[in-house]
Amino acid sequence: MRCSYCLTEEYNLLMNVPDARLRLTTDRRQDWHEILDLYHEHVDAPILRLSGGEFFWLKGSTEFVEEASRRYETVQVITNGVFLNERRVEALAALGNVQLNISLDGHTLELNRHRLPPKQAKLHDVIMRGLDTAAKAGLKIDIQSVLTDANYHGQLQFAEFLRDRYAGRATLYFFPVRGETAERMGPPAGDHLVPLVERYDEFSSVLPPRAYVEHMADQLRTNVRTMGCFVTATMAQLFGQGEVSACPHAWVKPMGNLAENRTLLLDQYGSHQHYDLFMHDRPRFAFCKTCATPSDVINLYFLDRVTDEEIGRTHLYSGERSQARLRMMKQAFRPVISGDGGPEAGAARQTVSPSTHTETA
Ligand SMILES: C[S@@+](CC[C@H](N)C(=O)[O-])C[C@H]1O[C@@H](n2cnc3c(N)ncnc32)[C@H](O)[C@@H]1O
Ligand code: SF4
Repeated sequence: MRCSYCLTEEYNLLMNVPDARLRLTTDRRQDWHEILDLYHEHVDAPILRLSGGEFFWLKGSTEFVEEASRRYETVQVITNGVFLNERRVEALAALGNVQLNISLDGHTLELNRHRLPPKQAKLHDVIMRGLDTAAKAGLKIDIQSVLTDANYHGQLQFAEFLRDRYAGRATLYFFPVRGETAERMGPPAGDHLVPLVERYDEFSSVLPPRAYVEHMADQLRTNVRTMGCFVTATMAQLFGQGEVSACPHAWVKPMGNLAENRTLLLDQYGSHQHYDLFMHDRPRFAFCKTCATPSDVINLYFLDRVTDEEIGRTHLYSGERSQARLRMMKQAFRPVISGDGGPEAGAARQTVSPSTHTETA
């Protein structure tokens, strides 16, 4: 697969990511554990999210998830859904604290046309079978639907499809495509998600908290983000070779490498220019101005638009420790949240270091 909106390969060139053949044939679990050991010398995080490339394509991936599930309260794997065979899904379900985050832009091949070019069309059925297998095995499933010109009009039907089959088991997180690709294939500004806001109660069994749907609907009206963001202060992005970057959702140059500087998180993370840029009261960094992500659930929680109960009902933050951590961080942020709902520049960085979750690619 090569999703037409994905920037990962270009991004990998910024770093020392091993070439694809090595990634597929070499079991690199030991390296990943060593990087996590370094990270956890200074940071405690109850949640690990794993991504790629396609994580389940890598050698040793299922075994790594099993090992990581002993270390974290919750492990979530972001996947394209192609490799969800019964054996793997059952092994993951047996662990109890492992969840899937399946990338799927709709329930039909047409809605997924930026994910599946015509020659990969057959994979659509494979992915839909994988989703079904995972839901039947009892895995908690989040779905990431990237909104583009191909699918912005199809999310209500997608929610209907999910509700009829997987109510209470799958949650649909839609958000507009990010980065330069947004200019070419982003949805036109408009009221596309308003029907979902108005009919929220009918679809609540497959939707994130109401404020999330409202926020995405608002942003789509103008395609401009105005809400501040605390993502940088609640999670960090780690790469398999030790690079650390300030936000798991932005394609920015890493701020350093843990293997070369083991006190990076402690000494430099909160004073790095990316941290300052990302933590402005209003989005200033170009990338942030059009950004929206499933992590906005945390932003909305800190801004009192999502309640404790609602965030506890999401899959990713359902663990006790994760909820306690979020409550603690919300308290810590309270003095620096400005009137219009964003973190005040510079002030928050002295208060909180990243510790809600780690995203590893
Ligand atoms: C880079 S992918 C890697 C994981 C896996 N291969 C997959 O397809 O889910 C991680 C997530 O980023 C999303 N994504 C990729 N390019 C994006 C973009 N330009 N804007 C927003 N999300 C994007 C994907 O749809 C997926 O949900
Ligand atoms: S707005 Fe988006 S890119 Fe900017 S810090 Fe938040 S999640 Fe990252």
